[in-house]
Amino acid sequence: MLKLGGNAVDAAVATSFVLSVVRPQSCGLGGGGFMVISLPDDPTHGRVVTAINYRETAPAAATPDMFERTEIPNASTRSGLAVAVPGTVAGLLHALETYGTLDRATVLQPAIDAAVGGYDADETFAASVAAAIGKLGDEPHATHPSLWNDVLSRGAVTPGQRVRNLNQASVLAGIAAHGREGFYSGRVARQIVDTVRKRGGVLTLDDLANYKVANVQPLEFGFGEWTFLGMPPPSSGGVTIAETLGILERTTYNKANTTRVERTHLLVESLKHAFADRSVWLADPAFVDVPVEMLTSDTYLSIRAAVINPTHTLTPSNYGTRYEGAGLRALPDDSGTSHLSVIDQWGGAVACTETINLSFGSMIAVNGFCLNNEMDDFTTIRGKANAFGLVQSDSNLPEPGKRPLSSMSPTIVLDADGNVVAVAGASGGPRIITGTLQVLLNVLDRGMDAEHAVASPRLHHQWSPDELRLEPGLRGEADAAFREQLKALGHKLGTIKSVGVVQLIVRDKEGIHAACDPRKGGTPAGH
Ligand code: GLY
Repeated sequence: MLKLGGNAVDAAVATSFVLSVVRPQSCGLGGGGFMVISLPDDPTHGRVVTAINYRETAPAAATPDMFERTEIPNASTRSGLAVAVPGTVAGLLHALETYGTLDRATVLQPAIDAAVGGYDADETFAASVAAAIGKLGDEPHATHPSLWNDVLSRGAVTPGQRVRNLNQASVLAGIAAHGREGFYSGRVARQIVDTVRKRGGVLTLDDLANYKVANVQPLEFGFGEWTFLGMPPPSSGGVTIAETLGILERTTYNKANTTRVERTHLLVESLKHAFADRSVWLADPAFVDVPVEMLTSDTYLSIRAAVINPTHTLTPSNYGTRYEGAGLRALPDDSGTSHLSVIDQWGGAVACTETINLSFGSMIAVNGFCLNNEMDDFTTIRGKANAFGLVQSDSNLPEPGKRPLSSMSPTIVLDADGNVVAVAGASGGPRIITGTLQVLLNVLDRGMDAEHAVASPRLHHQWSPDELRLEPGLRGEADAAFREQLKALGHKLGTIKSVGVVQLIVRDKEGIHAACDPRKGGTPAGH
């Protein structure tokens, strides 16, 4: 799209539609997402700084106790009740029509080509297919016909195998021809509703027809000389990153004589405050008051920074601002998310993160695309751990038209003149936040180049469970003393395979440098 003369929005929209075909385990037509956009002044659009909220939405028949009342097993992850109204198609078309420059047919063609001509499965897709097959029982062709036939290629997929998805191609062609109507009304909409309702869901044609995209102001906050544009609620990404960086800046993190272990301790303590607040305060601002200003205010950040003990970590109740009724929560370890970063020749940038929640979403597919199980990002059972061991705040209970709390963190960083210097984001549930944050700190604070910034080993702490998880790169002999020092500060160390999968672009005086996370493979496109 960039070579055709398109801008960053054209490229992001085209890429997202292609991802729907080649990453059906992560995102796609049946999901939702967030897009942060920064475009320089031009005669068509003027200067654009905006964010698009096309998060999936609870159907009109949703109720706060819908998962407490149902007897359907795994209702919030694997039944029709798990499926929220998809927003991706509406969001992408809105982005293209409002901020793009190319026509719909041009932008959808690469996805149609990928679905018709096929694409070569990579190891990540083959592994995801194998894991999905293990969950489908003995007769997947009967119980999950579209997932089995269209998405999983009727069985094991080997790396290098050509995979086609003709049914999804016809849906994409319908969207190219008819726009939003190709998905939210007519045949495709009826198939979505029928399939979901047969699986115990409550979705209606009206829910689909009434889906609304929202343009919102990005969450803007400073760190050092830079301005961050993050995603506001119902994403927790922007606020959690803003709070973490705001606390860090009010500690000795950046003093010249602060050691590596001291910096790590201060980062972890800041994350624990921000994640504790995430669990209590963050939800859909269209339904509850979310105190974003308070959580990112100088006074509040200074109070939280002052709580940090430089010589020992604290017990969980010392973090964040509690209110009665908030419980400790663990966060879902999802893998059904994908991030893309784009920058164009004019310095326009898009950070876009999309999801169907867990791998292959609800595992209910229609016409070659998977329907999300985003309802599981709501608080599903009050005061009680859900299927993932989560206990969450009541602010995030399902309600008609409400959007579940997300961790997706599409982020654009600007310099003092408003020029884009970095575009980043990640997949990986709550590790999206810690992954994106550490990669941006590597670039902005440590001066690393894009590839090292993404490849460097990362850590993760989300306040609950109270465990500091280290990637394999931090578990070798070379870091033995570092780990002992962290333990001496009271941190309980654990292990984690990957702290998110981050896609990064850095722009400096020498040019544009992009890096795909080696944790999931892939290479940057363009140059
Ligand atoms: N479903 C993953 C997220 O939105 O955080």
